[in-house]
Amino acid sequence: MSVFTLAHLSDIHLSPMPRARRRDLLGKRALGYVNWHRGRKFVHRREILDLLTRDLIERKPDHIAVTGDLVNLGLPEEFLRAAEWLHHLGPPSRVTAIPGNHDAYVRLHPEAGTGHWQPFMEANPDGAALMPTPETRFPFVRRFGDVAIVALSSAIPTMPFIAAGKVGEAQRIHVAKVLEELGGQGLFRVLLIHHPPLRDQAGWHRGLRDAAKFTDVLKRHGAELVLHGHNHAQTVHELETATGTAMVVGVPSASEAVEGGLPAARYNEYCIARAGNGWHVEMVGRSVAATPEHVWECERRVLRER
Ligand SMILES: [Fe+2]
Ligand SMILES: [Fe+2]
Repeated sequence: MSVFTLAHLSDIHLSPMPRARRRDLLGKRALGYVNWHRGRKFVHRREILDLLTRDLIERKPDHIAVTGDLVNLGLPEEFLRAAEWLHHLGPPSRVTAIPGNHDAYVRLHPEAGTGHWQPFMEANPDGAALMPTPETRFPFVRRFGDVAIVALSSAIPTMPFIAAGKVGEAQRIHVAKVLEELGGQGLFRVLLIHHPPLRDQAGWHRGLRDAAKFTDVLKRHGAELVLHGHNHAQTVHELETATGTAMVVGVPSASEAVEGGLPAARYNEYCIARAGNGWHVEMVGRSVAATPEHVWECERRVLRER
């Protein structure tokens, strides 16, 4: 029985923060800069992230998914550093990334921002053969044998203190088509989205504005696994869809310091295998524990039997 292992981490909030020039600190960034130095830098720590990613790389998963919030204020230097970090995780053929709200903190030309991550944010040839990527760049599809990853962007620039996201009508139409197509081919469909996709998973200021409409798309066309970040918490929801139960799983931030209490930095690994007419999926949680700081298996759970 062949098993595909997919690791999922999110909300990197890469530190240390590069020095900002005065002209880069206008508007929303100025508030974020103060917030970072007053508190967030003590929560998201580079040594915690490095400990976690060292463990992840050693376990050699078949693929790694990073669901957004790689940076903090959207400073040009932050995008370059995040690109280096992605390359350190693995080659673009083995790492898929999507943006989060912090990666769209201010309106930027893609070339100065997430464009640096392009090799990690595009279809692979097998995925493009299933569905060509629209001009808007999302959703894109990557296929690895029986497993297909559908990567979305819910990142939109917003006003200060707002961390909301949106899938938008164009993406929802594409996603509906692609889920139908991949489902028809009997593939295991993994959806990546930064914001929690279900209604009531986050409030108006932080949530997905079109969560109800997007949930309808999931219900009507089905998916096997939906992976998200943004809430910096481990959550598992089951969504009944036309093609069976979709598991919707959120992962804590990959850099959150243990001293801050739970949730500690964590990533999840999914072992996906065909079982009869269905799938067997096991989730293994790997988390950072304190004194001395080390990574341990904090959870092992079968998410689907068939
Ligand atoms: Fe985040
Ligand atoms: Fe976020």
